[in-house]
Amino acid sequence: LADNAVDVERLLASPMTTARPPAFPMPAFLYPVDHGLQRRNSTGADLAVIADRAPLDAAVAATVVPVIREATTEEVITQMVRLDDGFAAWSERPVAERAAIIRRAGDMLDARLAEFCGLLVKEAHKTLGDCVAEVREAVDFCRYYADQAQIRLQDQVLPGPTGESNELRMTGRGVFVCISPWNFPLAIFAGQVVAALVAGNTVAAKPAEQTPAVAARMVELLYEAGVPKDALALLHGPGETIGASLTANLHCSGVCFTGSTQVAKIIQRTLAHKDGPIVPFIAETGGLNAMIVDSSALPEQVVDAVVQSAFRSAGQRCSALRLLVVHGSIADGVIEMVRGALAELNVGDPARLSTDVGPVIDDEAHANVSRNVARLKKEAKLLGEAKTASTFPRLVPPVAFELGAIADLKEEIFGPVLHVVRWNGDVDQVMHDINELGYGLTLGIQTRIDSRAQRLAKLAKVGNVYINRNIIGAVVGVQPFGGEGLSGTGPKAGGPNYLLRFCAEQTLTINT
Ligand code: NAD
Ligand code: ALA
Repeated sequence: LADNAVDVERLLASPMTTARPPAFPMPAFLYPVDHGLQRRNSTGADLAVIADRAPLDAAVAATVVPVIREATTEEVITQMVRLDDGFAAWSERPVAERAAIIRRAGDMLDARLAEFCGLLVKEAHKTLGDCVAEVREAVDFCRYYADQAQIRLQDQVLPGPTGESNELRMTGRGVFVCISPWNFPLAIFAGQVVAALVAGNTVAAKPAEQTPAVAARMVELLYEAGVPKDALALLHGPGETIGASLTANLHCSGVCFTGSTQVAKIIQRTLAHKDGPIVPFIAETGGLNAMIVDSSALPEQVVDAVVQSAFRSAGQRCSALRLLVVHGSIADGVIEMVRGALAELNVGDPARLSTDVGPVIDDEAHANVSRNVARLKKEAKLLGEAKTASTFPRLVPPVAFELGAIADLKEEIFGPVLHVVRWNGDVDQVMHDINELGYGLTLGIQTRIDSRAQRLAKLAKVGNVYINRNIIGAVVGVQPFGGEGLSGTGPKAGGPNYLLRFCAEQTLTINT
């Protein structure tokens, strides 16, 4: 092994496989049993085994995306006053009642999976597999936060001196402004909103301009589940006007934002200068996510993880792999396999179950990603590119380029574009160079040297480290998700401490 001394005996005893992995071997749990979908293999030879896709097909065919009316800045003001007035009643409801409503919303969403998938395919152009996974994730957020509220948000009696009682009480903070992106228009939107609500806040929700209808349908469902109208308002419109008015509003008592680093910084500045209280800012932003591969790694496992992480969802995930840093001794082999996998990807209509990679979200994203691909074709070495005969609009065939150094990666390209860098020498230096990029969301480590994996994980300034697997698809309650540095302020969505970020705490001391 070229990159370090290792326990060769233990390595040789480890299982190896020579089979080429399918492009996207999706975990079976992503598919709901009741719709009869099973694990699929996207290589084309043996497409999905489907018992009954009728509900999903019918929903996709029947879905017409409604036209949504944008809010005005005057409406922002009146709605924020209304939500501020509604705060007392909602926050005084016992946590068990709020949790029951959110749990009911989760159950209703679960039952309406096909309908929401139809809307996600039509409005967000996500592949059917991604839609199913997204609805499941939104359901998980509802159920998980409802459970966590009942565990973590109880008032606590604290020990104290005789003649005095002490209690720590958890309450909502007031009106929370929730601003979400288009790439998980249901899961992230719903996750933010239900976390803020169940913690006792009222919520002003502003979804991305590209995906208002999914959000509108989810808000209708939340009202139906029992969330009072005075506890939740939906305000559509551009971030620069409606989003900016919401965050600048006097009644805004906290902001939960998921989106780009650039917009997070704008909001941070607004909050610093706005009238009214100092408020908490939960920001979950972008990433320049890397995967370090040493010479002991299993190439087949690496390529499977790379293809899923970099190209699934057309690379439109904050967690997506942008930079593969592979040891020089195995780089040629890994690159050859990545090229082979690229050639097998099925790029096309997102509503077809055989599609691995659908389109990017809109014309602006298409122009931006295509411009970057054209630039990289001039500046970097093209390693491989997927092909497609599909005429579906806004497709960007997944593509991989080789760069000279980690520092050559400058900005997040939000599409299916992978950068590859070879490394030789000190792996700690590799980690240092990745940390220097300033982002801190996800990191992959592929090695069979346990001590190395543990050391790199400790050195890494990132929120989520994945060892010997892909780096996307954090599961609610299992892989709490969120980054640091340029990737966010740190709170972990889907984790046991998340709800606390939406709460105020009051200590009550009584001289008895
Ligand atoms: P974006 O930052 O452009 O927009 C996100 C939201 O912010 C939208 O609702 C938008 O209308 C609003 N907004 C824009 N300007 C605003 C302003 N001045 N004030 C208030 N709100 C404003 O991001 P996007 O293009 O929708 O999403 C893609 C980005 O989101 C990528 O960078 C991706 O990495 C990131 N993302 C991060 C996570 C995470 O959990 N860390 C998850 C998904 C996406
Ligand atoms: N939570 C999403 C993922 O892990 C963004 O891919």
